Amino acid sequence: SWTPAHFVDETVAGLQEKIGEEDRVLLGLSGGVDSSVAAILLHKAIGDRLFCFFIDNGLLRKGEFEEVLASYDGMGLNVKGIDAKEEFYGALAGESDPEKKRKAIGKTFIDVFDREAKKLTNIKYLAQGTIYPDVIESVSVHGPSVTIKSHHNVGGLPAKMGLKIVEPLRFLFKDEVRRVGTEMGMADHLIKRHPFPGPGLAIRILGDITREKVSILQKADAIYINLMREYGLYDQVWQAGTILLPVQTVGVMGDERTYEQAVALRAVTSTDGMTAEWSHLPYDFLAAVSSSIINNVKGINRVVYDISTKPPATIEWE
Ligand code: XMP
Repeated sequence: SWTPAHFVDETVAGLQEKIGEEDRVLLGLSGGVDSSVAAILLHKAIGDRLFCFFIDNGLLRKGEFEEVLASYDGMGLNVKGIDAKEEFYGALAGESDPEKKRKAIGKTFIDVFDREAKKLTNIKYLAQGTIYPDVIESVSVHGPSVTIKSHHNVGGLPAKMGLKIVEPLRFLFKDEVRRVGTEMGMADHLIKRHPFPGPGLAIRILGDITREKVSILQKADAIYINLMREYGLYDQVWQAGTILLPVQTVGVMGDERTYEQAVALRAVTSTDGMTAEWSHLPYDFLAAVSSSIINNVKGINRVVYDISTKPPATIEWE
């Protein structure tokens, strides 16, 4: 039967057999569980011949780039952090179509990655943290010709760079990935991180992206997630986040009428992300989040809670 220990042994041996002694492997870290576990497995197999990039696309959660980079450092990975915020904001400027936003992000990611990769020699493989549900969601479930959302933003990367692909987690579900991570001694805070989409906050800001909107959403999101931890709810939900809505509504602050934006809270329970139930979060928690966001985040005067299941809604709003 399947055990994390067996999986680690077999996968490491398999990688050592597949990857030539002089070959180097490149991997893009996202800060999430999947790419981190893939990196640790490869590191076990080929050590410093694994080169990792962690790109700051300016669409991460507040403080996340610095925090996650530091934790990778602690795991002994060979990681280069790359600040590409301005390049991503430039590519996204004025774009409000969800699929075009994803494409712009994917293309910029490839440009940055490709540019950095050219500085290295002997790279033969591109490693990815693709897991089984990613494979299914992008192929069979929606049919090969219909992409509901283009999850694999970096699909064109290996061909462009002339690299072979290595995907050590391709047949695992998320809970198995987490067990493999624990087996290899990864820190709990990394293992238990909620899934976070590659295009990041860009698909949680409906409409076009500006630095100001990113900053507003980062503040609201940090309040939500921190309170979720304080209330002991973080590990009970599969994924949570805030969505910045492109509507302004009327409010009142002191004697003043306000006309500001609304934020939606999303929290779901799920086992694989393919179906999801909205989380029945306690009212006192929702009340605390709402008043903290409205009182502390300038530009927001209304908070709503998303009570939609997947299907027919998706987890993300774009
Ligand atoms: P949806 O919104 O399709 O999300 O119900 C299912 C899971 O996938 C994540 N997601 C993405 N991940 N690139 C990614 O890397 C994407 O474009 C993307 N879209 C959604 C989402 O956060 C959830 O965990």
